[in-house]
Amino acid sequence: MAENSYDFLVIGGGPGGYVAAIRAAQLGMSVALVEKRPTLGGTCLNVGCIPSKALLHSSHLYEAAGHEHAGLGIKTGKVSLDLAAMMKHKASVVGDTVKGVDFLMKKNKITRLEGSGAITAKGQVSVTPSGKGAKAESITAKHIVIATGSDVAPLPGVEIDEKNILSSTGALELSKVPKSLLVVGAGVIGLELGSVWRRLGAKVTVVEFLDAILPGMDGELCKQTQRILAKQGIEFRLSSKVTGAQSTKTGVTLKIEPVAGGAAQELSAEKVLVAIGRRPYTEGLGLKEAGVAMDRHGFVTVDDQFATNVEGIHAIGDVIGGAMLAHKAEEEGLALAEILAGQAGHVNYQAIPGVVYTWPEVAGLGATEEALKEDGIDYRVGKFPFAANARARAMGNTDGFVKILADAESDEVLGVHIIGPAAGDLIQEAVIAMEFGGTAEDIARSSHGHPGLSEVVKEAALAVAGRALHM
Ligand code: FAD
Ligand code: NAI
Repeated sequence: MAENSYDFLVIGGGPGGYVAAIRAAQLGMSVALVEKRPTLGGTCLNVGCIPSKALLHSSHLYEAAGHEHAGLGIKTGKVSLDLAAMMKHKASVVGDTVKGVDFLMKKNKITRLEGSGAITAKGQVSVTPSGKGAKAESITAKHIVIATGSDVAPLPGVEIDEKNILSSTGALELSKVPKSLLVVGAGVIGLELGSVWRRLGAKVTVVEFLDAILPGMDGELCKQTQRILAKQGIEFRLSSKVTGAQSTKTGVTLKIEPVAGGAAQELSAEKVLVAIGRRPYTEGLGLKEAGVAMDRHGFVTVDDQFATNVEGIHAIGDVIGGAMLAHKAEEEGLALAEILAGQAGHVNYQAIPGVVYTWPEVAGLGATEEALKEDGIDYRVGKFPFAANARARAMGNTDGFVKILADAESDEVLGVHIIGPAAGDLIQEAVIAMEFGGTAEDIARSSHGHPGLSEVVKEAALAVAGRALHM
């Protein structure tokens, strides 16, 4: 292959892009990866999944050390916060993880090109390094993969300045715990980062446009999550729209109106976090000029093989829409590399779990009850609470339940919804069951280690047929 010419060229080094690059290299293709950030790993590793989970874990331990274990016979003295050290830990987790991705690029002989990629013609990409006067390099590739991810969706009238009005990136970097935090949007970011700052001492209020939190998740799960987070001290203002923001000497005042109409209200806080979703990021990519079709929201349009309307140009991850999740982007990257190598790559979107890393964790997979009702599918429900599980009681974590939805006739698992300790790990059992086309009976007949939290999954599966044992 000529210099500057590759079989597989990926623009964007996030979990979609770098995983696609590794798989393509494993399959024998010559691969280059273009990333404009100095570090690989994309949103997820740099300013998303990983730093947020580091802060969620540290803040959980901080809160637990303060009072959560009092009932278990452990008394602690006055617990104090070293936020700078907490942030340093977060930064080192991110630093080690992105270094790990660099290692994987080298190990797989992937050429790393640092700079902004733009498609200039069919099979042609220019890479412009950052810095004044830097010269663009022209690269040719048989397959170009757009994996440029997403960016924060703006809220008109509430301009993000990353000082008082923050995006998730700013909310991961605060050097002081704000006295109060107003979160706009009761989605995953709002609840995770709202939990972090509440645990560290902020008074947190979440303003949500809809009449429920966590849109898209099973309704019963959302209600229970809201109840538990409210008990922890997060205040919710649902069915409310934010219509403007005013900076003040002490922070920000938001103007809020009931969605149904009525008098506007003002809410003030030291900081505001805008978390109303993310939008596809395609700036400077030259997609219009290259004739690549996008939908009305700006997502790149692809077929079921991740091909755009222009031959040789493919797209994966957040930039094509669907669930904006790192593991979904990874599965698409794997599938695309395999398809282009002549194999049968495929993503089963029904079996992609969604996890919210609050405490307790919340996890959803497959169809919700609302969706099954809407589609007129006859289903059975098996539900089991953590309160009836000895391990959960031993841990002092009895909030929540596992709910399994199975086809009324075939017993096939259609959806699984969990709120409770380790929900994000417990859901994996259900993912495997659904990947194998499993039934509730299959889960119920599998032995689960005792005493374990996973026994709640087994009991919920037994409950589908009305034969839970421990309730
Ligand atoms: P990205 O990770 O966004 O990567 C795209 C990359 O492309 C970026 O590095 C960008 O710099 C680069 N790029 C863009 N344009 C160009 C160009 N022209 N030239 C060169 N490079 C370019 N998901 C989970 O599954 N679990 C979580 O716990 C989770 N937590 C999150 C927490 C937060 C605060 C946020 C914001 C997101 C979180 N997500 C989580 C979502 C997850 O980060 C995304 O779904 C995932 O990163 C998408 O991967 P991607 O590869 O499609 O794009
Ligand atoms: P989101 O789509 O999860 O939630 C946004 C919320 O804001 C919704 O509830 C929506 O109704 C509300 N909203 C929209 N406009 C509003 C307005 N004007 N006023 C008030 N509320 C408004 O988006 P979020 O939380 O920003 O997260 C973005 C993406 O990042 C998500 O798609 C998610 O998948 C991903 N993510 C995943 C995580 C995980 O897997 N644990 C963690 C964090 C983010």
